[in-house]
Amino acid sequence: MKIYVPMDSAATALGADEVAEVLAREIAARGIDAQIIRNGTRGMIWLEPLVEIDRGDGRIGYGPVTPADVPAILDGSAESLGRVEEIPFFANQTRLTFARCGVIDPLDLDDYAAHGGLAGLTRAIAMSSAEIVQEVADSGLRGRGGAGFPTGIKWKTVAEAAADQKYIVCNADEGDSGTFADRMIMEGDPFTLIEGMAIAGLGVGATRGYVYLRSEYPDAIRVMRAAVKIARQRGMLGADVLGSGRAFDMEIRQGAGAYVCGEETSLLNSLEGKRGVVRAKPPLPALEGFLGKPTVVNNVISLATVPVIFEKGAKHYADFGLGRSRGTVTLQIAGNVKHGGLYETAFGLTLGEVVNGIGGGTATGRPVKAVQVGGPLGAYMPVSKFDTPVGYEEFDKNGGLIGHAGLVVFDDSADMLQMARFAMEFCAVESCGKCTPCRIGAVRGVETIDRIAAGDPGAADLLTDLCETMKDGSLCALGGFTPFPVMSALTQFPDDFACQKEAAE
Ligand SMILES: Cc1cc2nc3c(=O)[nH]c(=O)nc-3n(C[C@H](O)[C@H](O)[C@H](O)COP(=O)(O)O)c2cc1C
Ligand code: SF4
Repeated sequence: MKIYVPMDSAATALGADEVAEVLAREIAARGIDAQIIRNGTRGMIWLEPLVEIDRGDGRIGYGPVTPADVPAILDGSAESLGRVEEIPFFANQTRLTFARCGVIDPLDLDDYAAHGGLAGLTRAIAMSSAEIVQEVADSGLRGRGGAGFPTGIKWKTVAEAAADQKYIVCNADEGDSGTFADRMIMEGDPFTLIEGMAIAGLGVGATRGYVYLRSEYPDAIRVMRAAVKIARQRGMLGADVLGSGRAFDMEIRQGAGAYVCGEETSLLNSLEGKRGVVRAKPPLPALEGFLGKPTVVNNVISLATVPVIFEKGAKHYADFGLGRSRGTVTLQIAGNVKHGGLYETAFGLTLGEVVNGIGGGTATGRPVKAVQVGGPLGAYMPVSKFDTPVGYEEFDKNGGLIGHAGLVVFDDSADMLQMARFAMEFCAVESCGKCTPCRIGAVRGVETIDRIAAGDPGAADLLTDLCETMKDGSLCALGGFTPFPVMSALTQFPDDFACQKEAAE
């Protein structure tokens, strides 16, 4: 008998370690022949800790499990969720990037290879650099870190740059509110990211890679470091990647967790040991990045998607999706929602289908008021925009952005004036301070929203004007995109601003 208990930090925060401990004790006491495997999470966070028991006829789920439930689970008298892979939330997904997450032992390279791992890298090794880059371009993959920039074009720029040293830098800063896909894959299937970075290295001619990981992710840091060590020992990394005669090695670097250090140039400064301040572009990091050398900076999910593209072929990946948004999107459903978790699906579902259909509406049972999509710089989408399909251009047309595909759901008790104030305050706190519209503008923004709340009749126009200045004059998207949540709150939920004003009058 095999028993799976996730070691993912969402599951351990909900008590998975205690459950595993009691399971081990009970198994020993009862003399049961069973092996406990600490897997990643399946992503159904409302069911965590989700224990799966495989008695040879599929993995049967129990969750959320407490230590007190363990005896009944082992007796076979506890009520189960049935086969985990048949739970509709899981069964209806298209799992490409997350195909192995929650299924395998994250640090077992043989388990990884038995589930399709290394097939992509093996194929890439037989290809030329230009062919590798073309494969990524043909897949239609766009950066999953926020900007949606075509990954193939970025890789081509680095591949064609002449330099004695090039780098692959993985952006694992994951600072956006409501996002956890990067952490989840690093904890649940770390070799996928390593494989993706190795393919990127072969593609652009980079022999060194770095994962920039925030200190708030100690479990992901631990798992990634252990995985890199194993990959090196087994010849997946090093001077002769899988016997190819080509070199690629990498290491994990820990950042202190400033939001702005997720911005790629600020990240590069931090990685070089400097203060995390944004650099002006040009030069692009693709030409002058880490230590001034051509550098691919890609998000975790972008890089972790590369192996499946090479395993199944660019066309297979590109066949999923909508318009110019090809492949799958790894939606992270969070906030006040009944079924929170990670849901990987082809681009194209509507926002309403995601929030109400998949997420099951609010956890409180009250009506949904707004969904903030794309982290703290994303717009608050009202219910009237729920027919917007999840796609980069489709969201853009409707005043929103997908960003890293995190969704935070709010019910009708949310005060959107306070949400707008929070957006400005967040920008003020997290600003790197390099440019005036962001550094000063965000502080003035908080004050101006307080004036609206106090009933100042001219303050809303002033806020609109300030947002225009921040949008046009900021050096990076922290100052440039803060107007999205602020202005969406003001324009889509005018009552929340009017009520405050009337109350003051
Ligand atoms: C303030 C700010 C924070 C950001 N944070 C992240 C982050 O945590 N993770 C990430 O991958 N990209 C983040 N980005 C986007 C990166 O600058 C960059 O576009 C991305 O790493 C490129 O990788 P991709 O093309 O694979 O998306 C941030 C951007 C800004 C302006
Ligand atoms: S917009 Fe803000 S975070 Fe970005 S460079 Fe300017 S001051 Fe720094």
